[in-house]
Amino acid sequence: MGTTMSDLFDFKSRQRRFAVVGHPVLHSKSPQIHDAFARQCNVSLSYDAIALDPIAFEQGVRNLQAGGVAGINVTLPFKEAAFRLADEVSERAQFANAVNTVSFSDDDHIAGDNTDGIGLVRDLQENLGIACTGARILIIGAGGAARGIVQPLLQSNPDCVVIANRTVSRARELVASMDSPDRVHPCGLDDVNEAFDLVINATAASLSSQVPALSESVFHPGSHAYDLAYADQPTAFMRWALGLGAVRAVDGLGMLVEQAAEAFWIWHGQRPHTAPVISALRSGGC
Ligand code: ATR
Repeated sequence: MGTTMSDLFDFKSRQRRFAVVGHPVLHSKSPQIHDAFARQCNVSLSYDAIALDPIAFEQGVRNLQAGGVAGINVTLPFKEAAFRLADEVSERAQFANAVNTVSFSDDDHIAGDNTDGIGLVRDLQENLGIACTGARILIIGAGGAARGIVQPLLQSNPDCVVIANRTVSRARELVASMDSPDRVHPCGLDDVNEAFDLVINATAASLSSQVPALSESVFHPGSHAYDLAYADQPTAFMRWALGLGAVRAVDGLGMLVEQAAEAFWIWHGQRPHTAPVISALRSGGC
């Protein structure tokens, strides 16, 4: 059967559809970021922010899939649920126990990946020029955010990685679940009494403008501080770190854009330039 005018019309108007799902999600910058990447790479897509009901996450995802959505990014609180729902997951998602990027295929298959950790490492090394290789790295926190970044950080060959958590048993459990537990040292916040080259805040403390109760000796004059959280103003952790002599303190906006760029690569096979998008977001829009 030949192509009809209406087929042509459908073909021309058909945009691949994507979305970020979360609860809440309206604050998400992902639609702006993916729209900016799409303009840059000349890709036709639509990208929405969709709030899903936490008690019906799976049904919500299946509805999007049935409705022709090609892929979704998953944000809080659904990353672990997306991991359980996926038919197949990447190695990095497997370690993180969490999925932030889902690709749907025509046969109802759900593939899950996790681009958070690579997003952090790219922001640190490529955008900010902060070397992870050979560095002494302190990760504060042992929840889902810490789990998502520890393996990619190890792959950049740091000198050492310490995971310090308010509840020390969680730090121990996280390290015990790793393939190479001898390369990471768990401890409580009180046990940290030395300085690190890079201190990463992976706790939820910034969300309530709190700072983890850590010894002030974690910073030396060349230390960098990185908060996975981001806000319009410097976070409490960033201000605290600068006050204690860190040479630089950065928020997680660059990581957000880099994890999105990796998702864009997975879905569209193109790598967008992230620097213009990061600077546009910093100045209030894309
Ligand atoms: P996420 O997925 O964002 O990591 P999570 O799994 O609930 O969320 O983990 C939150 C992390 O922030 C934990 O490491 C938590 O410490 P506990 O395991 O002791 O609860 C940490 N956290 C939250 N608020 C904190 C605070 N005010 N000070 C220090 N750590 C805090």
